Amino acid sequence: MSSNASEDPWRIVNLLCNGTLYSIYTAILSHTLTSEAKMLGKSEGKKVNDLASNTKDYHDKNNRITTDWGVKQSNTDDWLKVTAEDKQGPMLMEDAFSREKIHRFDHERIPERVVHARGSAAFGTFRLFESAEDVTNAGVLTDKSRETPVFLRFSTVLGSRGSADTVRDVRGFAVKLYTKEGNWDIVGNNIPVFFIQDAVKFPDVIHAGKPEPQNEVPQAQTAHNNFWDFQYMHPEATHMFMWTQSDRAIPRSYRMMQGFGVNTYTLQNDKNERHFVKFIFTPELGVHSLVWDEALKLAGQDPDFHRKDLWEAIENGAFPKWKFGIQVIPESKEHDFEFDILDATKIWPEELVPIRYIGELELNRNPDEFFPQTEQVAFCTSHIVPGIGFSDDPLLQGRNFSYFDTQISRLGINWEELPINRPVCPVMNNNRDGAMRHTITKGKVNYWPNRFDAVPPAEKEEGGYVDYPERVVGIKRRQRSRKFQEHYNQAQLFYNSLSPIEQQHVAAALSFELDHCDDPVVFDRMAKRLAAINFDLSQKVAEMVGAEAPQESHHNHGDKSKGISQLEYMPANPTIATRRVAIIIADGYDSVAYNAIHAALASAMALPFTIGTRRSPIFAAGERKSSAKGVKPDHHLEGMRSTMFDSIFIPGGAESIASLSKNGRALHWIREAFGHLKAIGATGEAVDLVKQACGMDKLVFSSGGDVVDSYGVVTLSNVDTSGLGNIVKLVKNGKNFAEAYGFAISQHRNWDRELDGLNTMVAY
Ligand code: HEM
Repeated sequence: MSSNASEDPWRIVNLLCNGTLYSIYTAILSHTLTSEAKMLGKSEGKKVNDLASNTKDYHDKNNRITTDWGVKQSNTDDWLKVTAEDKQGPMLMEDAFSREKIHRFDHERIPERVVHARGSAAFGTFRLFESAEDVTNAGVLTDKSRETPVFLRFSTVLGSRGSADTVRDVRGFAVKLYTKEGNWDIVGNNIPVFFIQDAVKFPDVIHAGKPEPQNEVPQAQTAHNNFWDFQYMHPEATHMFMWTQSDRAIPRSYRMMQGFGVNTYTLQNDKNERHFVKFIFTPELGVHSLVWDEALKLAGQDPDFHRKDLWEAIENGAFPKWKFGIQVIPESKEHDFEFDILDATKIWPEELVPIRYIGELELNRNPDEFFPQTEQVAFCTSHIVPGIGFSDDPLLQGRNFSYFDTQISRLGINWEELPINRPVCPVMNNNRDGAMRHTITKGKVNYWPNRFDAVPPAEKEEGGYVDYPERVVGIKRRQRSRKFQEHYNQAQLFYNSLSPIEQQHVAAALSFELDHCDDPVVFDRMAKRLAAINFDLSQKVAEMVGAEAPQESHHNHGDKSKGISQLEYMPANPTIATRRVAIIIADGYDSVAYNAIHAALASAMALPFTIGTRRSPIFAAGERKSSAKGVKPDHHLEGMRSTMFDSIFIPGGAESIASLSKNGRALHWIREAFGHLKAIGATGEAVDLVKQACGMDKLVFSSGGDVVDSYGVVTLSNVDTSGLGNIVKLVKNGKNFAEAYGFAISQHRNWDRELDGLNTMVAY
């Protein structure tokens, strides 16, 4: 689905509901949203202003095409050549204009990131609502009056730059905070742990996950022998692979994922006390995922699904927000836990170390150009500011080396001068020269100390970074400490803490992945490894993938932890904001139901899209084609698929339903949405269409004026306008059809449908 202005849902509402109260209402709403967006846009502040000096407006009417050396060009379509009236002649090398154009094109690509190559980003703001001065003196974590500009890049890990968004993978969550004291980068993921404990293993885990060396297959997937071979050979990866087999690895949207710094950092306060810390971002919209079949299909049907989703939400003024939290452990308690708090394969369970939410991150502006911003942004875990420090986490220490190093090969040594990467505070030092140096530093010396006393180091009081004097005693050797050798407790904790439906998804994901492994050594061993986590799980998966069923069961401690199941993150107030809803119509549709539900959805900030049997106007029951304008759908049934929407609604109308019931694609839309556990709404004659499409005794349908919600299929047979209603509050068994249907959408997916096996009874 493209995100151009012509698909602006507020505009569409206005067009479609012309002349009704709805248009006035949505016009006000649209105006409010736009003003709000503008207001917030204004406060984007320092970084956007900083970028302004490097930003040109392509659409300025005074622009003329020039060469890179500034000469205006009169023709960029024909290479200079020797021609005659009737004869095409040789092309001349002398044409420097044309040669420049081709040169520049030939060198447009830079090396893609060795990992996390596929990504999308946005600008935003970070604000604090509680000072953390008891544990740190970092300005960004103590000054509540600040608005810190941020640039956040989301990514997948394994795929190439052009790979699909919805594959099963970890998602990157890399935040650059342009603070007054310098850039602070939190280079995190949407999963709180990692595959390995020591950074020196990173090339191995990535080689194993990337396409196999002999044929470069498969792209952007972990469903292959090498990935699972690695998982078995490295028991330390057990906890992490359980997360990647859960729904966390197939997010519905970047806006609906948590972000975790993963590594253990430290905080230092004015009393010179040190605390260990982990950073966490939790989304306001809840943590939601796709279902696997949907993710697989979207990878082909709309490979840019997440990219467009983020762009669309920000363009519509529905700015995604995350609460920012810290988990803090005083230095004196470092060894009080049964796991090592410096081990990145472990979480700090919230029961032991509660999350303290102290701030908020909002994304409110799309980039102006992808390459100089999203592609050239470069993060470093080593970028910290005073008040924040490293720990001896061996993964973090290696990362601190790796990121700077990789930026040199991707962008060159002067990468920190690129507009998107440069800080908003002054930068001055004696680093000089190198390819593509931009800064011109006036002065007679470029070293310290110098006879002019120029550019001295800063005192602590002036904001100079002072390293914490950590006492270190030990033996130099290649070894992991004792606690680093336990790998199964938290893998069990993770699995035990999932809801039954999420556990079912883990079993299905493992069964899918191992089915793609054709080496029995790989899947037999993996089935055994699963027995170390949960015996039933190992049996189920072994049976599905044809592995030897493990005989030995390991003890499972039975403990659970909060904050692991995604279902715990449902928003306190149900919302359908930014949910994409397809309204399916054919000629003869019921315009009353269509208009009412379209407007009700838009008023609750959902995004209704009209899907017709064609994209030229569709006429309502009673409308005359010769005189009425009809409704121009956003798309037609063949152009889109149900996978691209969170829900579908079908208004009645005898003629419309008669034609849809003979349309295989329309029936497929309904069945697929049902199979993918999405809310389905139907009114009037459409109730019978949904009944016919699903063909299932267990579903109950409305047969009169009552609204019936059966497994998230919400129907109203006898439609009168009062029965359709507006959405005032989304609560279960809402007062009218719009509210009941809206509530079903707000639940994201109807898990009961899957728990009771209904989704497997329809063909889609
Ligand atoms: C806690 C574990 C890790 C997390 C959460 C993590 C996260 C990330 C993220 C989010 C990115 C993408 C940044 C962007 O959007 O531009 C990234 C890129 C990268 N990571 Fe990691 N990573 C981890 C471990 C490692 C380790 C252990 C290494 C190497 C020793 C490593 C090396 C890289 C490299 C080379 C890139 C590409 C950077 C670029 O070209 O801009 N990562 N990582």
